Amino acid sequence: MMIAVYGAGYVGLVSAVCFAKIGHQVICADINEERITTLRHGDCPIYEEQLPQLLKEQILGGRLQFTADISYAIKRATIHLIATGTPSMLDGSADLSQVYAVATQIAREATADGLFVIKSTVPVGTGTAIEAHLKAELAHNDSPVRIEVVSNPEFMREGSAVHDFLKADRIILGGTPEALSRLKMAYQPLLAQGIPMICMSRQSAELTKYAANAMLACRVSFINQMSRIAEQVGANIDEITQGMGADRRIGPHFLQAGIGYGGSCFPKDGRALVQTARSLGIEVPMLDAIDRVNRMQKNWANEQLNKHFNHVLQNKTIGIWGLSFKPDTDDIREASSLVIIDSLLAAGAKLRLFDPVAMPAMQAYLPHHESITWCRSADSVVSDPLDALVIATEWHEFKTYSLSSLQAVLLNAPIIDGRNCFDLSAVEQANISFYYSVGRPTVTAFCKGSTVRTATHHEYNVSGVTSK
Ligand code: UGA
Repeated sequence: MMIAVYGAGYVGLVSAVCFAKIGHQVICADINEERITTLRHGDCPIYEEQLPQLLKEQILGGRLQFTADISYAIKRATIHLIATGTPSMLDGSADLSQVYAVATQIAREATADGLFVIKSTVPVGTGTAIEAHLKAELAHNDSPVRIEVVSNPEFMREGSAVHDFLKADRIILGGTPEALSRLKMAYQPLLAQGIPMICMSRQSAELTKYAANAMLACRVSFINQMSRIAEQVGANIDEITQGMGADRRIGPHFLQAGIGYGGSCFPKDGRALVQTARSLGIEVPMLDAIDRVNRMQKNWANEQLNKHFNHVLQNKTIGIWGLSFKPDTDDIREASSLVIIDSLLAAGAKLRLFDPVAMPAMQAYLPHHESITWCRSADSVVSDPLDALVIATEWHEFKTYSLSSLQAVLLNAPIIDGRNCFDLSAVEQANISFYYSVGRPTVTAFCKGSTVRTATHHEYNVSGVTSK
């Protein structure tokens, strides 16, 4: 089966490589010639586990080609998989111009009946609008070709996208039964492994994608809201998550408190969903709140720093570990680190930054700033005296960093841990001077070596008995 994938971005590239991996002939087309040249050489332009190796294997195996000539792909395939970008416009709605551009070209140049499979995340109703557009273009060109539109949303996470494609929880297809039966053949090798396929209407498939992301983002904002209350009453959000998550109706996933969600999906898709609802005249206070809570939560680290330093951050030297929006990716889009960096620079602080893979992305994003030192390692951030260390991303190397070494270099400087990387008991044992984490009691070491936990209104000794 010949599949053309349009768009060699994140979703397109992973889909192209994975469809080749399960045995199809795939042509991946993109108008970005530089990217296509890189890919033809077998070099992977994105940071994604398993992808570089798999990419090379599929090219060598002759199942995967790359082209900047869109017509070349259109003429050879009957399944046209659309994975072009749908960036946010100023009002939050999705910009569909790239999806329409590919549709127009397919209508003009396709020589055989085919499927127009929308993998890009598009607002509900886009499939119907594209179908009308294709019909009009085909009629305009007197083309006898029939192109059916199918929705096939993706649920891959950055950092584990290959796994999420090849071992998906489910495959969602939306369209007419006839169109879906043809697309099912493309997924047959995955269905044979027992991955469930759920077929539905196109509108339902389009909305399922937004609903899933909104639900996950909602859980993150929910637990972050709870963490604010936990901080004030001296509770521990980890214990609460454990208690809640043990209820099978709730489950433990996506309840990790932190400094908010980022990335290219939750924020953008959340805004697009709100925009869709508004355009339909529907009030969505709950969806609004998910984003509002997230924006508040991104200020958490700055709030802790301001409290600790009585709002005087001028000339303070702050180290930041982690710049990407989550570990195992170099993506800094809507990362919480951006909010922290902006506020600290505005307050006159000096910054020492490090991320295991997102340094080039952040250096390209941030203009030269005399208050920023780009560090080569986590060690080098703390090698010069710091006034505070902020952890913005829970990379494995930070979570496993020796706390006693940190204590030796930080002395009285606080750790502001936005991702709850360390156990409170380990922090206590290491005699860290001040450890602030999300939704958990603050840990403070006192000069005589004993360690107590303090919350905003309560103080505890190590055994948890209120001491004040
Ligand atoms: C998300 C979805 O998980 C995928 O299913 C979906 O396909 C993808 O969006 C998309 O629409 O393309 P992704 O953006 O890669 O995937 O990242 P996630 O792993 O979902 O994490 C999103 C954000 O939530 C991160 O900033 C992460 O730090 C944060 N998060 C996640 C938490 O703060 N707490 C949690 O418990 C989980």
